[in-house]
Amino acid sequence: MQGDLGSRVAALRWYHTIDLGDGVVTKGIDDSPLRLARLDLPDSLAGQTVLDIGAWDGFFSFEAERRGASRVVASDYFSWHGGGWGSKKGFELARQTLGSKVEDVDIDVMDLSPDRLGTFDVVFFLGVLYHLRHPLLALERVASVTRKLLILETVVDMVGVDRPAAAFYPGRELNGDPTNWWAPNVPALHGMLRDVGFSEVRTVTPMPSASYRFARAISHQVRGKNAFAQAFRQDRAVVHATK
Ligand SMILES: C[S@@+](CC[C@H](N)C(=O)[O-])C[C@H]1O[C@@H](n2cnc3c(N)ncnc32)[C@H](O)[C@@H]1O
Repeated sequence: MQGDLGSRVAALRWYHTIDLGDGVVTKGIDDSPLRLARLDLPDSLAGQTVLDIGAWDGFFSFEAERRGASRVVASDYFSWHGGGWGSKKGFELARQTLGSKVEDVDIDVMDLSPDRLGTFDVVFFLGVLYHLRHPLLALERVASVTRKLLILETVVDMVGVDRPAAAFYPGRELNGDPTNWWAPNVPALHGMLRDVGFSEVRTVTPMPSASYRFARAISHQVRGKNAFAQAFRQDRAVVHATK
């Protein structure tokens, strides 16, 4: 059985690193357990409904289910329908293997609405904002389906600049990926979230020190990911926004 599962897993390209049990772990390009540790998720999601927007292989959806959520919906469109290099096959195989009841809805971020999906106690919006051409409009859509708590993770740029601002990447400036468009700085992110209806917005990741950003920028340059000067101004931040 493990051999069979192992070969089915190996036949797919994975974004997430998911422990499927029996020693089978997907070889995702994303260090998903490390990112999970930065989200400051509630230990228990018992009785909560959860929507995971841009779920891809579903690591964070399965984690919400593991933490006791009463209902979890994984939504995506871009990666599930060949917009990039991904597909929905990883999500489907992981869900089957984990015996998960996570539901799936094929829907683009810009089409989210209470009419289409209903509303959810907790919404995950992780690693998606910077992929969107219209981030403030997208946040309006995300807010419309959030009943209580939004957990958002994103690239932020212009770290340390107090004035709300966003960096625009018209080409491949961010991670060499032409599907990356905008990264706000933290004041802009807070301002946008308040503007779309969240009354309390809290960054749960620490403000990166200059020495951390220096080391991060060197690592980006060595790996050919982002130029030193650009990477020095960037980070990833996690925000909890409540209605
Ligand atoms: C970097 S992955 C993040 C996946 C997952 N939420 C996580 O945090 O690990 C970006 C996700 O955003 C979704 N997405 C939605 N709209 C997109 C767009 N216009 N361009 C690229 N990705 C988009 C992709 O399908 C993909 O699932």
